[in-house]
Amino acid sequence: MRRCTAILLLIILVVIFLLGIFLLIPFPLAIYPAIVRSQVYIQHAEDGSFPKATFYWSRLPAVQHFNFYFFNITNPDEVLYNGAVPKFVEVGPYSWPETEFKDFIEFREDDTYVHYQNNKTWVWDPSSSCDSCGYNDTLMLPNPAFASVIYMSKTNLTSPVMKFLLNGLCLLLGEQPLRAVPMAGVLFTSYDDPFISLINSNFTKTLMSFMGNPIPLPPVPAMGYFPNYNQTNDGDFLVKTGIDNVDNLALIQKWCGMEKLPWFSSTDTADIRNSGDGSFQKPFIKSTDRLRQFQSLACRKFELVYSGNSRTVNGIPAMDFVLEENEYNSLVYDGYRYPNFENQDYFPSWPCNGSHKYNPNSPGCSGINCARQENFCDPCCNGRLAIFFIFIISNNFS
Ligand SMILES: *[C@@H]1O[C@H](CO)[C@@H](O)[C@H](O)[C@H]1NC(C)=O
Ligand SMILES: *[C@@H]1O[C@H](CO)[C@@H](O)[C@H](O)[C@H]1NC(C)=O
Ligand SMILES: *[C@@H]1O[C@H](CO)[C@@H](O)[C@H](O)[C@H]1NC(C)=O
Ligand SMILES: *[C@@H]1O[C@H](CO)[C@@H](O)[C@H](O)[C@H]1NC(C)=O
Ligand SMILES: *[C@@H]1O[C@H](CO)[C@@H](O)[C@H](O)[C@H]1NC(C)=O
Ligand SMILES: *[C@@H]1O[C@H](CO)[C@@H](O)[C@H](O)[C@H]1NC(C)=O
Ligand SMILES: *[C@@H]1O[C@H](CO)[C@@H](O)[C@H](O)[C@H]1NC(C)=O
Repeated sequence: MRRCTAILLLIILVVIFLLGIFLLIPFPLAIYPAIVRSQVYIQHAEDGSFPKATFYWSRLPAVQHFNFYFFNITNPDEVLYNGAVPKFVEVGPYSWPETEFKDFIEFREDDTYVHYQNNKTWVWDPSSSCDSCGYNDTLMLPNPAFASVIYMSKTNLTSPVMKFLLNGLCLLLGEQPLRAVPMAGVLFTSYDDPFISLINSNFTKTLMSFMGNPIPLPPVPAMGYFPNYNQTNDGDFLVKTGIDNVDNLALIQKWCGMEKLPWFSSTDTADIRNSGDGSFQKPFIKSTDRLRQFQSLACRKFELVYSGNSRTVNGIPAMDFVLEENEYNSLVYDGYRYPNFENQDYFPSWPCNGSHKYNPNSPGCSGINCARQENFCDPCCNGRLAIFFIFIISNNFS
């Protein structure tokens, strides 16, 4: 009897031991990941309801902070009237927590793809903003309405009479290269601009159609960077569900019907396919992964690389991913550049150290793209840079 008990005990111990080995080795290595891989893709039940992970994907249980910093110009009079170099003071953060939910979710092509729009809400939060930051702060910034007028005048107006009229109109409306604008207005709530109000008025529309639309008016319904975007969406997304391979989870295939952003010249920077939107990642991220994310409001994608794993979130070990060093290099991400109509070299000793030799007629120069960083100091190129660092300083643009 005692022997029987001993054998039974031994068997139980062996079973527990085997179970332990199983839990210790194959379960975390193979079985658990396989369970996760088979569950954690974007999916719906027969009745259209979502399992937990998909539900959280559709209603992100997280708040994203949009923290804005401005370079406030502190010597506007000297800049406007004496052509002085602007002095900047960085102010911020002005913090606008954002929440979002996915709307118009529609599974397509046997649930391989899912379409959605992201409905976003921003709420001003003084507690996560800087101590001196207030909702009603005023900022002195370059005036985009004025810049648009200049751009139109340079690109689309050939008649000197029209240029003269536009010039006069700017003076009349008080449009200047710099403008004091309200913080909330310049970001989300929009602000009144005399020129934009004028071009959107019924009077101008009637007058223009009467004159046979001699100038193309910029299609700007309201001023600001994200004017009246609150509780709207940022376009149609088509992403992979990950049903075929969970590594493809939530990777963008199209945004607003586009695979490439037409304002970037190189395919590397233009192609947004297989970027995430920053909110949801595949499971089992590795330190060698490059995480790409597309941010529609920044009009571009960003590449993130692993930077360490010093932190835990709610007790769960976390991996840090940061922007790659070159991500704000506007020579690589050239979609923000503009053609330097004023033909100024703002940084003569950069990037070619002032010793640049320029021979545009040398053989082979026709094949060199001088807009690309690697060719910048090539003798075929003028060694100058045309990026939107400095705004037009003179009021006299005719
Ligand atoms: C920005 O600069 C202007 C002067 O150009 C000043 O009146 C304004 O208070 C400054 N705003 C902030 C937030 O510092
Ligand atoms: C956006 O809408 C929410 C809800 O109506 C509101 O609380 C918030 O102040 C609005 N934000 C902006 C920028 O208008
Ligand atoms: C901003 O100014 C308006 C109008 O003067 C005022 O009603 C509002 O309370 C101010 N907002 C804050 C956050 O101070
Ligand atoms: C205005 O000028 C831009 C740049 O040269 C050009 O791409 C655009 O087609 C022009 N638009 C019209 C209506 O002439
Ligand atoms: C402009 O015209 C439209 C219809 O053409 C009308 O709905 C609108 O109220 C008018 N706006 C103003 C400010 O008169
Ligand atoms: C976004 O959601 C808000 C509130 O839920 C709703 O009023 C608004 O119409 C939605 N916007 C769009 C573009 O669907
Ligand atoms: C300019 O000079 C710096 C250091 O003096 C050097 O690192 C850089 O390569 C030079 N650039 C060119 C284009 O010659």
